[in-house]
Amino acid sequence: MAAPRDAEIWKDVQTYYGQVLKKGADLQTNACVTAAGPVPKHIREALQNVHEEVTLRYYGCGLVIPESLENCWILDLGSGSGRDCYALSQLVGEKGHVTGIDMTEGQVEVAKKYIDYHMEKYGFQAPNVTFVHGYIEKLGEAGIKNESYDIVISNCVINLVPDKQQVLQEVHRVLKHGGELYFSDVYASLELPEEIRMHKVLWGECLGGALYWKDLAILAQKIGFRPPRLVTANLITVQNKELERVIGNYRFVSATFRLFKLPKTEPAKRCQVIYNGGITGHEKELIFDANFTFKEGEIVEVDEETAAVLKNSRFAQDFLIRSIGEKLPTGGGCSALESKDVITDPFKLAEVSDNMSSRCAPDVASGCCGTKKSC
Ligand SMILES: C[S@@+](CC[C@H](N)C(=O)[O-])C[C@H]1O[C@@H](n2cnc3c(N)ncnc32)[C@H](O)[C@@H]1O
Repeated sequence: MAAPRDAEIWKDVQTYYGQVLKKGADLQTNACVTAAGPVPKHIREALQNVHEEVTLRYYGCGLVIPESLENCWILDLGSGSGRDCYALSQLVGEKGHVTGIDMTEGQVEVAKKYIDYHMEKYGFQAPNVTFVHGYIEKLGEAGIKNESYDIVISNCVINLVPDKQQVLQEVHRVLKHGGELYFSDVYASLELPEEIRMHKVLWGECLGGALYWKDLAILAQKIGFRPPRLVTANLITVQNKELERVIGNYRFVSATFRLFKLPKTEPAKRCQVIYNGGITGHEKELIFDANFTFKEGEIVEVDEETAAVLKNSRFAQDFLIRSIGEKLPTGGGCSALESKDVITDPFKLAEVSDNMSSRCAPDVASGCCGTKKSC
């Protein structure tokens, strides 16, 4: 049985996403809005194929489409009307599968309504997408088995869940070894006080339940994930005078992290790696996270943690990996690890990204993903 406060939150969130909101434009803040940014062409095309009603009810805060997806089994936590599921169903292909789970019936209904439409559009013989009505804290009750998924994604949902540890534990259980949780969510600059946490609109708008960003690493370690790898971050400006007064000096950021579940193996050593360029849509360059970009054919020195992830995940087939000292076939240049200033703080990354975007020419048409900010 859920604690009374948890049950009340579920009910409020179901009302908010099932009845109060009918489309993205009904949101009262810009927290559940995806900031503009460059989107690879194959993802842009996949998103353009999604039905208009599904897209209209999209409330995500990031791009949760990782790389190397062919034939993967993907689970989307809090899939809403299914926009990300339908984009991913094209990218995993007919031999892959995407499951979306959401606790709000109205959202699941919209998602299910368009299964045939999308399968016909993609030319698939049988649906490779399933939508389930259920709670992401209780994936077992929804029939999701141990070690059954390659990737779990989630877009602006975990902040809405009262017990975040339970969700991450469930994700860890259902992921295969080497699998990853690739997710966008809202984080706070500090632990939030009761006044903000108890505010129903702030909770529904994905702010009141936001985790203090440093707590993600603590939770991840407790559960057995490797340390979070920060991918992107954007500051949330809220843009609602009344709610800003309640929020005061607390700041919020939407950030995308990857959390890997690795098999228990010998600790990896620092390595040199060469990306072979084989990943669809990322042939020349793989931006793995905010700290590591791999150019095709270039030798890159990576720390123990990154070496372990590359060796033990689905990315192993895309890299030539050698311990330092062993000889690698020489490609382009070699970027050494010592010069790296590793960023783990999403607020810091958001500031850097903001500075960069204010310097680049506006080009909204070039593939931003449902957006308020232009780059
Ligand atoms: C901000 S919306 C995001 C929806 C979707 N990911 C998207 O990008 O459009 C949050 C969604 O999470 C769902 N949700 C919130 N808490 C949940 C829970 N405990 N279990 C299942 N779904 C949940 C809500 O029903 C809602 O559809």
